[in-house]
Amino acid sequence: MCGIFGIVKEKEENLGKILIGAAERLTYRGYDSVGMATISGDKIDLRKDVGKVDTVAEKFNVAEMSGQRGITQLRWATFGAPSQVNAQPHLDSDGLMVGAHNGNVVNNIELREQFIAEGLTVRSENDGESCVHAVERYVKRGYETIDAIRLAYGDLAGDYAFVLGQINDDKLYAMKKGSGLVIGIGEGFTCLSSDLPSLLPLTRKIIRPKDGEIIILWADRVELRSVIDGKLIEREPELITETMDAVQKGGYPHFMLKEIHEQAQVAGELLHLLDGSAEVEILIEKMKSARHLYFIGCGTSYHAAMAGSVFLAQIAGRTAIPVLAPQFISQFAPAVGHEDVGIFVSQSGETKDVLNALNAAETRGMEAYGLANVVGSTLTQATSFCLPLCCGYEISVPATKTFTNQVITFLYLAYRMAGKDTKELDNIPALMEKTLEMVEEQVKEIAADINNWEDMYCLGYGATYPIALEGALKLKEITYAHCEGMLSTEFKHGPLSAVSDGFPIIFAAGPEDTNLIISGINEVNVRGARTIVVGEENASLRANADDLIVIPESNPYISSLLAVLPLQLLSYHMSVMRGYDPDFPRNLSKTLTVD
Ligand code: AGP
Repeated sequence: MCGIFGIVKEKEENLGKILIGAAERLTYRGYDSVGMATISGDKIDLRKDVGKVDTVAEKFNVAEMSGQRGITQLRWATFGAPSQVNAQPHLDSDGLMVGAHNGNVVNNIELREQFIAEGLTVRSENDGESCVHAVERYVKRGYETIDAIRLAYGDLAGDYAFVLGQINDDKLYAMKKGSGLVIGIGEGFTCLSSDLPSLLPLTRKIIRPKDGEIIILWADRVELRSVIDGKLIEREPELITETMDAVQKGGYPHFMLKEIHEQAQVAGELLHLLDGSAEVEILIEKMKSARHLYFIGCGTSYHAAMAGSVFLAQIAGRTAIPVLAPQFISQFAPAVGHEDVGIFVSQSGETKDVLNALNAAETRGMEAYGLANVVGSTLTQATSFCLPLCCGYEISVPATKTFTNQVITFLYLAYRMAGKDTKELDNIPALMEKTLEMVEEQVKEIAADINNWEDMYCLGYGATYPIALEGALKLKEITYAHCEGMLSTEFKHGPLSAVSDGFPIIFAAGPEDTNLIISGINEVNVRGARTIVVGEENASLRANADDLIVIPESNPYISSLLAVLPLQLLSYHMSVMRGYDPDFPRNLSKTLTVD
């Protein structure tokens, strides 16, 4: 969701290709518009529009853009419709400064009214433009740029990161307040970006700024200053050792398929890490002594939290309340205290809804821990500690490997809470491999058969209920069809009336719930539904369902985890068959940093 990148060189040179490359690497976050600006001497060259990076770059010949400094921004519309004028970067009133932001300035409308009243030229409805005018208004009052930025920081409410350059200068300025920002230091240049992967092809020497810090980039040095008093902050750069292989498609047509096939490997790495983790021991003790336990997340991460809650009850006899992060604020936060423990679950570690819930929890003194994939993300810094999901980069917007590793982490915690030997879980990677081998061809055939339907259901019970919700979310997310996830027993309480001839209903059947699932199958079969069941080999399931997608035998908990793999594949193949790009579904973003 929105991304910014800026670069400072020693002297004017071609920056167009560097800006296009950086923008391409940020596309996985989701966007609808893109823009580039270069600055040299007293000139600002700004080119931007709605559309894909390559289309906009070609239309405006971005590759030829040159300058001593450059900025690119990918916009995912919140304030103002996707349009050329709302695309970023934005100029100040007189074309002396140019800037772009990532995030959400929540008092944008009020600020725009103030700027107009002060005589500034406001061209768009976009909050990125407000960031530029917020600095401009203080520069016009005679403040040095750095002080103007500090004052602007106080005026701009919300969470964002912002980069700004001005003519007749040799620096870029940036500030961070709640949104991700990483600085890169290279040979003869410095740069910054909303995330680490987009910097890695340029440099491996990085600095992670914190909220409330102003960043000044020269070609050969970087300064961090406190927004409060302008004082210099010392921070040593880190060296990143991860390879870029992790962010290539590695021969797969889409990142999603690659990431589905990486699940066994990352599951193995996760289990290894959990076995040796001192933090797991601390978390187990905290969970054991907690008055109330909450598992909090959004979207796919919430489904993992639900699975965790089922595991904890069934395996360890403990209650954990799974809750959608925004609902936690209104329903539970007012009543939590220091005796309670929350586990905040997020792939990105930047989801605003989750961070808001964390803030509400911590205000009440609740103990907060996290499960996150992106190390260094806001969640990893704002909780007592986060268990890493160890998935490497997940580029595809639909979460796959991060979901299975979230579920495995919860399963591991439930085993440990119950004092159960976790050795059995070491079979998971091999079982996942086997599942993919067993189901892939059959799933492709079923995908082709049901792909003309725009409406379907995905049902589960017990440990497979969260899996059914997750399967339905994946289908909705990348096929754009409607698919509702539901507890199988609820179907007869209303949705049954929707069933017509051939209507697809997918069941995730746990090995101990087959009788119940068979009742559900028969209820809809007699009304003409096409029933597709994911489950272990079972003669009754085979006799009753239209299709049985067989997964390997394990136990009810591992079986529920395995059941999600065919559902991920089903949504992937249906999406591709419909001609969509499953990696970057329309309107969606990998990292949702807005309310
Ligand atoms: C999953 O496929 C979705 N992209 C989405 O539901 C996602 O899980 C949700 O936005 C939460 O993201 P997070 O895990 O990064 O917090």
